[in-house]
Amino acid sequence: MMARRIRLAQARAGVTMLAAVVLAPVQPVRAADADTTLLNEAREILKALPTDIATSEHPVTPDRVELGRALFFDPRISVDGTVSCARCHQPALYATDGLARSRGASNKLNPRNAPTVLNAGLQFTQHWRGERKSLEDQAQQSLIGPASFGNPDYAAVIRRITSLPGYAEMFQKAFTGEKEPVKPENWGVAIGAYERTLVTPSRFDDYLEGRVEALSALERTGLKKFIETGCVACHNGPGVGGGRFAKFGVVEDYWKETGSQEIDKGRFDVTHDPADLYVFKVPVLRNVAMTPPYFHDGSVNKLSDAVRVMAKVQLAKDLSIDDVDDIVAFLGSLTGKQPAQFVNAPVLSAAGFTDGK
Ligand code: HEC
Ligand code: HEC
Repeated sequence: MMARRIRLAQARAGVTMLAAVVLAPVQPVRAADADTTLLNEAREILKALPTDIATSEHPVTPDRVELGRALFFDPRISVDGTVSCARCHQPALYATDGLARSRGASNKLNPRNAPTVLNAGLQFTQHWRGERKSLEDQAQQSLIGPASFGNPDYAAVIRRITSLPGYAEMFQKAFTGEKEPVKPENWGVAIGAYERTLVTPSRFDDYLEGRVEALSALERTGLKKFIETGCVACHNGPGVGGGRFAKFGVVEDYWKETGSQEIDKGRFDVTHDPADLYVFKVPVLRNVAMTPPYFHDGSVNKLSDAVRVMAKVQLAKDLSIDDVDDIVAFLGSLTGKQPAQFVNAPVLSAAGFTDGK
């Protein structure tokens, strides 16, 4: 109410100022103009989230989403019955596990930190080093990852799924017309369809739609600094990241600032191309305030430190405490609401653990 009254007053003042323009051509930029300029700039570089991430190749059908959701939360398909996708991508932690590096079947340590799966389908590739080409590919390969589900091979996976009640029918429904729908590719397609529904619009999307007051003045200052400091050279698009690779440590070795104990060579270990040394996928910054610890190795606990490190090693800039605080405030506006089909775990067909043999 108060804000509306102030805006009305500003609008009226604007009319008077328009009349004054004729007499005094040089006017200071009004707050409202600065807001519009910032909004237009933000709209150019960053985009609102879509309602889902369906593509023609990967449609989101209700039967696939329902199956994918059950599979995402089901630990019984792992080698020791303890690992589901939700173990490391937990709703309570915005689809992460809160660990520097995840632990999978038989407590085996992963080499890297678990990013969130929320909005992950927006990315041009998956994993820190981009060695998974899609959500579907990623989900399928998790099944036999030694530090993930830990299954020895896909045949063991199929035995586990078919031994559990309900799944045969669900696969049949989701993949009509297929003779043997229970197969690793379809596990990937079903989970991928589910993940493509996991988008988290936030106040920042309201802002991009034109509701400038959806962000506080502080958050708007942070947005301006995020743009002007140069963060948007890498973190752009609807995910505020996820669109390209970049070297971590453009101007200085990253581990000098992160204190990383082990030096990860990044994409170099995937391609063996010297140009890929210390190159990682630029991560999505949607919900970043909710997903510590930060970076591929979880080496930094606080978002303010991550922002400071980024400015230093990517852009050779020493940000003031105020600058860091403002940018952190802006990043907080990227925290969205988690979808109901993620926050509420499905109830799975009742059956004791079976090893599927
Ligand atoms: C043991 C923990 C663990 C389990 C179980 C697990 N993940 Fe992950 N997930 C990770 C880690 C760690 C990474 C990062 C791997 C890397 O980049 O090297 C990751 C990466 C991802 C990514 C890529 C995100 C990005 O921004 O690049 C997606 C998507 C994902 N996981 C989905 C899934 C799905 C679906 C399942 C179940 C089929 C699953 N995960 C099971 C730990 C886990
Ligand atoms: C040259 C490209 C580039 C620029 C510029 C850049 N970043 Fe990054 N950013 C990256 C890459 C690559 C990573 C992943 C580093 C890693 O962990 O391997 C990253 C990671 C991050 C993370 C950690 C995210 C997570 O989930 O762990 C934050 C936060 C971040 N950047 C914020 C910023 C801010 C704020 C700025 C501006 C001050 C900025 N970045 C500038 C490329 C860039």
